[in-house]
Amino acid sequence: MVTSKFRRRVAVLVSGRGSNMAALIAAARNADYPAEIALVLSNRSDAAGLNTAASAGIATRVVDQSGFGKDREAFERAVDNELQAHRIELVCLAGFMRVLAPGFVQRWEGRLINIHPSLLPAFKGLDTHARALDAGVKIHGASVHFVTAELDSGAIIAQAAVPVLAADTEETLAARVLSAEHRIYPLALRLVAENRAQLVEGRCITDGAVAADAVLTVPSEIG
Ligand code: GRF
Repeated sequence: MVTSKFRRRVAVLVSGRGSNMAALIAAARNADYPAEIALVLSNRSDAAGLNTAASAGIATRVVDQSGFGKDREAFERAVDNELQAHRIELVCLAGFMRVLAPGFVQRWEGRLINIHPSLLPAFKGLDTHARALDAGVKIHGASVHFVTAELDSGAIIAQAAVPVLAADTEETLAARVLSAEHRIYPLALRLVAENRAQLVEGRCITDGAVAADAVLTVPSEIG
């Protein structure tokens, strides 16, 4: 792996499987990618993503939320300490199942991004695929957004759309969306790391050079 002083130091926060984390690690293996995954941190010691990261030679840390009881701020201070200790510049949430307190979110404003399995602002929160099927939408997808204090409401950086097929179950739809997630998260992190996507007064301003079709994956392009 080639490292350069221009690569931004990124932490990925996970609570489970970590397939999006793995997609970011894979992207960062390319020498021209503007970020390196310097830390994978989990609030759960049993998160499978930790093993994947460790096997890839990436530093891992657990900040076990159960050790902090209801003291959310103490938990987040401990997370912050790890981020500082690893000189982290950007944070990617990837299936991190904790709502972060406003203080943490403010400290990392513009440098904290999340992936959500729906075309926001539709289907914020949990069970997005079941709700998309219930609603009968024909297009579903995923969004990468800057994190703000309000859940799943920050400015959108990139989105990918996938078709909802007549025979879809929650599982088949989730799998189709997930493969789209793995494509747009590395793209969105690249844009943020290169300062081509920035949070300005609550909106995501993208560099004029980013073509619309670079941030929207149309259904026909999803395998
Ligand atoms: C993804 O669907 C992501 O959009 C959501 O949680 C899931 C995490 O999956 N926030 P993985 O751990 O990245 O495989």
